[in-house]
Amino acid sequence: MTAHSQRRVHRLVVDGVDLAVEETGRGPPVLFIHGFPLDRTIWRHQLDHLGAYRCIAPDLRGMGASGSPEEGYAIAQYATDLVRVLDQLGVSRAGVCGLSMGGYIALEFASRFRDRVASMVLMDTRAEADSPAAAEARIAMAQRARNEGLAAVTEEMLPKLLAPESLARNDLVVASVRQMMRATPLAGFLGALQAMRSRVDYRGSLAALGPTPTMVVVGAQDAITPPALARTLAAAIPGAKLVEVPGAGHLVPMEQPETTTQLLREFWRSVKPSEWE
Ligand code: MLT
Repeated sequence: MTAHSQRRVHRLVVDGVDLAVEETGRGPPVLFIHGFPLDRTIWRHQLDHLGAYRCIAPDLRGMGASGSPEEGYAIAQYATDLVRVLDQLGVSRAGVCGLSMGGYIALEFASRFRDRVASMVLMDTRAEADSPAAAEARIAMAQRARNEGLAAVTEEMLPKLLAPESLARNDLVVASVRQMMRATPLAGFLGALQAMRSRVDYRGSLAALGPTPTMVVVGAQDAITPPALARTLAAAIPGAKLVEVPGAGHLVPMEQPETTTQLLREFWRSVKPSEWE
């Protein structure tokens, strides 16, 4: 059977919002949470090559093929959406893997729904809340998106998302990221900015994550959440493993897909069977 024939896309209505949720593979469940302003296809290689796991990859509300309400965006709301997705799919416990904003949501998910988390992968993300300057920059970005549209904002963001080498040579990844960003509904884009700007600081909850097997992954050239932040994050979670991926910026699963898939496979293999139950 080809990897593609295993893809299943559900439409699940959660709190009145229609979410697109892709599933591939069979085995212990793992939940993939994408970043901003992207969609589940950042995990394409992982979804198609981790057939020994039941991979569950939703498009968050307001992004990808999911519905985009005018209001109702908060990190806590995204986390609640995801627990409802797991409920509807009959999954009681899953490995959680979030990238960037997906990592903020993973941390929120773990602090609210601890018993649903079998293991954690925090990729290109941070535990710190926005600094005042970062919060201001989000307001400016929202204004630019309203005034000039997402195409303008996309060109501003692209060089920060990808390593210089990926930007210069990896045309497929550049085109795919550009397309995802431009296709993001304005309401979802603005809602996510507002949600990230208002998010809490998760540093105080990291020590309690200790018993959960955790891996922190970062692109060596990540300009948005640089390796130094990942080191601090991993050091604050007892027992967490840290991996720095060469040749990648902020979008490790797309820029180094095979390496990322292999890292996840090895990490999940190391998780004790009892953790998945
Ligand atoms: C993301 O990739 O999800 C965002 O860049 C995160 C952020 O802006 O804080």
